[in-house]
Amino acid sequence: MKVLPDVALTYDDVLLVPQYSDVASRRKLSTQTRLTRGMNLQIPIISANMDTVTEAEMAITMAREGGIGIIHRFMTIDEQVWQIQRVKKTESFIVENPITLTVSHTVGDVKKIVEETYTGGILVLDGGERLVGIITTRDLLFEEDDHKPLSEIMTRDVVTAPPDTTLEQAEKILHEHRIEKLPLVDANGKLVGLITMKDIMKIAEFPKATKDARGRLAVGAAVGVKSTELKRVERLLEAGADCIVVDIAHGDSKLEMDIIKAIRKNFTHAQIVGGNVATADGTQRLIDAGVDAVKVGVGPGSICITRVVAGAGIPQLTAIMNCAAVARPQNIPIIADGGIRASGDVVKALAGGASSVMIGSLLAGTDESPGLLMTRKGHRYKVSRGMASLQANVARKAREGEAEITQEEIEDYVSEGVEAAVPYRGSAREMLGQLVGGLQSGMSYTNAHSVDELYEKAVFIRMTEVGLAESKPHDVDVM
Ligand code: XMP
Repeated sequence: MKVLPDVALTYDDVLLVPQYSDVASRRKLSTQTRLTRGMNLQIPIISANMDTVTEAEMAITMAREGGIGIIHRFMTIDEQVWQIQRVKKTESFIVENPITLTVSHTVGDVKKIVEETYTGGILVLDGGERLVGIITTRDLLFEEDDHKPLSEIMTRDVVTAPPDTTLEQAEKILHEHRIEKLPLVDANGKLVGLITMKDIMKIAEFPKATKDARGRLAVGAAVGVKSTELKRVERLLEAGADCIVVDIAHGDSKLEMDIIKAIRKNFTHAQIVGGNVATADGTQRLIDAGVDAVKVGVGPGSICITRVVAGAGIPQLTAIMNCAAVARPQNIPIIADGGIRASGDVVKALAGGASSVMIGSLLAGTDESPGLLMTRKGHRYKVSRGMASLQANVARKAREGEAEITQEEIEDYVSEGVEAAVPYRGSAREMLGQLVGGLQSGMSYTNAHSVDELYEKAVFIRMTEVGLAESKPHDVDVM
């Protein structure tokens, strides 16, 4: 047995010392950061891979706002793939399978499609894959003969662009020709996609959005450590997952290292996040195994009981500092996972060396999380639960079509998480706005103009319980 000499700290043990600041406008401070070795975020916030936090809807909002969501793994591979595809289909500036008809279809056919899909502007093919015309709303005006073939009314002179057209080029062409739709055709005239003005305008609504190389929203996916999970990884990457998060409670383990090495070997270009760990040694082992980011946090989460049940863990700020001291010089970002209750904790996590934070329960209370909004004693709430809770595992079995959990299994199950009600918090977008605003304020107090500068300039001071009490509203009746 040995006892380490250090006292471990967490968010409430410290404050950041205010420093002379030349920041003129807090809201203009950049919160850009790195998620992994190869991926950037405009805001350093990730929604947790929990079944009460991140499915497609949350992931879409997270990416639009400049962060990212990690789709949890408590579902079948097919369902997780479907969730990734849903995110990828949202806001792609290229429609990969546009609706088409052929020259021999009729005015009646096109009217029906326009009515059913609200699509104005149907592409017409020659019967094969070659684009030969387009039917615009104008072409259909005053057209009463429903039996007329499209070849007689379509616009033949279609403005097209090559498959590798960029967003900027597309915008220019659409504007120059005053058109709404730009079909993409290859050298043989084969239709391979469509860019629409409407989709481009939607993109402009979310200027900070996290995107992949094809302009689609970015999304991550969690996997486990069983060797069968390699199949899951393959399918998720095929579906477009931008990073794979190998997520188990004790990431500094042989099981985790083995799967990470296998993923690295089989999928050379995948961005891999490994975790969770809480020590410098664990961080180094993950880096040696081949990860692109390390997720830190053993037991700080709001719904975690690991420290109670197993007596193991490290208070989160010390864990972040120790892991960052090893990872930062090797260019590997740290994700601080769990225990974030307010924007001040985000500031402290980043000042301690993390490049981003992962959030569970705070986001579980928003509109975009899975699960129903409920009312109890006049208060609205949603549910957050630990992935190692009995309830989450019962739900996983049902969702994956496995046999119902038996009484014996229930009695044997050692839970390391709880299920809890969390207050309803409105939209995730508003919540992220509050967290980012608070982060920018914290940066201003430390005269940091970037997330990296926050780490370089931060000076922490420890406080006592009395200091903590003074730090919160006190001697007033908060309304
Ligand atoms: P917050 O505090 O944001 O924490 O709700 C979310 C993180 O908690 C972790 N997590 C668990 N930890 N038992 C644990 O010890 C669990 O059942 C459990 N479920 C989630 C996880 O790292 C998550 O991102």
